[in-house]
Amino acid sequence: MMVEPSPLTASVEFCCPAQSIIRGAQLEKAKEGGLDAIETYVFWNAHEPSRRQYNFDGNLDLVRFIKSIQDEGLYAVLRIGPYVCAEWNYGGFPVWLHNMPGIEFRTANTVFMNEMQNFTTLIVDMMRKEKLFASQGGPIILAQIENEYGNMMSHYGDAGKAYIDWCAKMADSFKIGVPWLMCQQSDAPQPMINTCNGWYCDSFTPNNPNSPKMWTENWTGWFKSWGGPDPHRTAEDVAFSVARFFQYGGTFQNYYMYHGGTNFGRTSGGPYLTTSYDYDAPLDEYGNLNQPKWGHLKELHRVLKSMEKTLTHGNISSIDFGNSVTATIYATEEGSGCFFGNANSSTDATISFQGSEYVVPAWSVSILPDCKNEEYNTAKVNAQTSLMVKRSNEAEEEPASLKWVWRPEIIDGPIHEGKGKFAASQLIDQKQINDESDYLWYMTSVNLKEDDPIWSDNMSLLVNGSGHVLHTYVNGEYLGSDWATYGIFNYKFEQQVKLKPGPNQISLLSATVGLQNYGPMFDLVQSGIPGPVELVGRKGDERIVKDLSGHKWSYRVGLRGMEDKLYGPQSDNQTNWLSEELPTKRRMTWYKTTFKAPLGSDPVVLDLLGMGKGFAWVNGNNIGRYWPSYLAKEDGCLTGPCDYRGSYDNNKCLTNCGKPSQRYYHVPRSFMGKDVNTLVLFEEFGGNPSRVNFKTLAVGTACGNAYEKKTLELSCQGRPIAGVLFASFGDPQGTCGSFTKGTCDAERDVLPILQKECVGKDSCSIQVSEEKLGKTNCGGNIVKRLAVEAVC
Ligand code: GAL
Repeated sequence: MMVEPSPLTASVEFCCPAQSIIRGAQLEKAKEGGLDAIETYVFWNAHEPSRRQYNFDGNLDLVRFIKSIQDEGLYAVLRIGPYVCAEWNYGGFPVWLHNMPGIEFRTANTVFMNEMQNFTTLIVDMMRKEKLFASQGGPIILAQIENEYGNMMSHYGDAGKAYIDWCAKMADSFKIGVPWLMCQQSDAPQPMINTCNGWYCDSFTPNNPNSPKMWTENWTGWFKSWGGPDPHRTAEDVAFSVARFFQYGGTFQNYYMYHGGTNFGRTSGGPYLTTSYDYDAPLDEYGNLNQPKWGHLKELHRVLKSMEKTLTHGNISSIDFGNSVTATIYATEEGSGCFFGNANSSTDATISFQGSEYVVPAWSVSILPDCKNEEYNTAKVNAQTSLMVKRSNEAEEEPASLKWVWRPEIIDGPIHEGKGKFAASQLIDQKQINDESDYLWYMTSVNLKEDDPIWSDNMSLLVNGSGHVLHTYVNGEYLGSDWATYGIFNYKFEQQVKLKPGPNQISLLSATVGLQNYGPMFDLVQSGIPGPVELVGRKGDERIVKDLSGHKWSYRVGLRGMEDKLYGPQSDNQTNWLSEELPTKRRMTWYKTTFKAPLGSDPVVLDLLGMGKGFAWVNGNNIGRYWPSYLAKEDGCLTGPCDYRGSYDNNKCLTNCGKPSQRYYHVPRSFMGKDVNTLVLFEEFGGNPSRVNFKTLAVGTACGNAYEKKTLELSCQGRPIAGVLFASFGDPQGTCGSFTKGTCDAERDVLPILQKECVGKDSCSIQVSEEKLGKTNCGGNIVKRLAVEAVC
């Protein structure tokens, strides 16, 4: 039996430790935004952290999440994977899996398949037991097995095909009573439904003519890397892609992400993905409406849904006007609905349809639910634009009020003597430690005599890195560090070193920055120090190499401060924090302070400007890796306005070049108490905590923009509108924050009208018409609109 899929769903990342924040408010906002379903991945590594030891507690309570979706009156789409990609550490695979003898990932390998089957069965049984599948009366209307395997399959040869067939058989054997999806799998075996992922999926056709045309991931923006600028995909372009998809027979469309959120702790994938997973999604990292994207899509959903009957039952016909301009007509006996699409990226089109003329701007779709009146055009944004502001913590005078104490990370005897917890005669892949920590010490000793071939005045240590961060120490002294800069992951660290006759101790600290989550055989991508590690002696032109890679290496996982839980609440009782002479620019340093939670209920961010790289904890909760000293690359950002026209990709409309790729870190209010809260930072590179402070985030400016015959709506999202600074009814120019009057305007000043209707209210709405706002001097050719700038 096929369950008719609902047309619009949202994707919400499930599993982040602050899951509770999306349970209520964000689900409500998704529903209010016109969505019918919440799509979520299931994160295997979070739920099975050690083999056969499961965790579905607290924020990992999957059943509760699905039930919350149901309580909100929404459907659910369960993407079990269990490979998920998702910019999530190791693509969601538990790292212990890598260490099972004989395993090969994502191919016809019995060790892998047994584990995958075990976890998938567990999830399916858990859902079934709670009657959560739609066939049992529950909210889950669709499930997914694997993830974009089709993009990788050619690398796995025949075994890849055998594997995907096995995936399909296994999924089907569960008899869950709702369809299974396989995204980006153009040979999906029946009855799996092959679906599309991407920025545009209008020209996608599933491999089975009986399958509905479905879009599992419409990327609403993009993710961010350390060293990467801020991605931005315009509301106009997202709406264009959605409208075009439904123009061309789409039945199900999911936003990835609708609410991306934050990758707390060590959940961020790699290489080098930031803690923020904002994604420029319609709900921002903190759950605020990302306006105008949220509102522009909400209106699109309303119009599409008003046509549901016509779209799902109508006969389809189309007209090609040339130059990428088309009309699609859905007709039933009761009536018809039309889409006029213009995929030309620069030329507006004027078309004549059933005796009337219509202007369809470049790169837009007009929707006419009755085939007569344009009710929506993807390029005409009537939703408000909100500019967010960060406000100081009103509970105290930060940063001055923050009294810091500090402690050095203890790099002591055992490290300098090379005494680890286990040893091997090789450099190991850091995955061998089951990803218990970002940090792994690689330690070895090399005995040198003055007659050693490398012995010279010019000796250096050379380490081939995999891109993760490297800190080197020789004979107890720090030598230097290296890390991947701007996407180059195979650096060679080389630095001159003073060695002594006799034993020399080499201690290398490797710090992973999220394990690879995508690519063919990504699971095998080396992490840690692949080597070789060499001592190089130079005598004149001669270069003599001593390869230490095959030496006996001793290993120690993690850092002392982490073992001693310096980040946790109990560390308060420890007395060996120092309060004198707070060091700055000091490597491997722990800092601690107490703070008062910001007043009110606005989301809270921690401003870490001045710090290098490390981890931050609030009351023992790991809020993720921080690295504000890593600046986004200098070039590639927008130099003029962002043009929504033309195909989007993640290199378009970038901002924030040359600035910290992530300066602000989300601290969920659920991590904080009312009274004294503790912030602990572990600083790896050296930083200055004296500027660190907490801020709250809220709408600062709200700009309304609406075309004639539409309604302009303004809201400060939960606080009263404080004032209206600008209003013009005509062809106002500029963008929110810098509006100016255009070539024409209303004959009387419309500002007082807006002030009267809006100031002091939580929200206001105004009909954009000459009746309400008075006549203009615009003439016939100008499409009039009202633009308003309000302060919150
Ligand atoms: C897709 C993948 C998602 C996510 C996305 C990029 O290929 O299925 O999990 O990684 O790319 O954000």
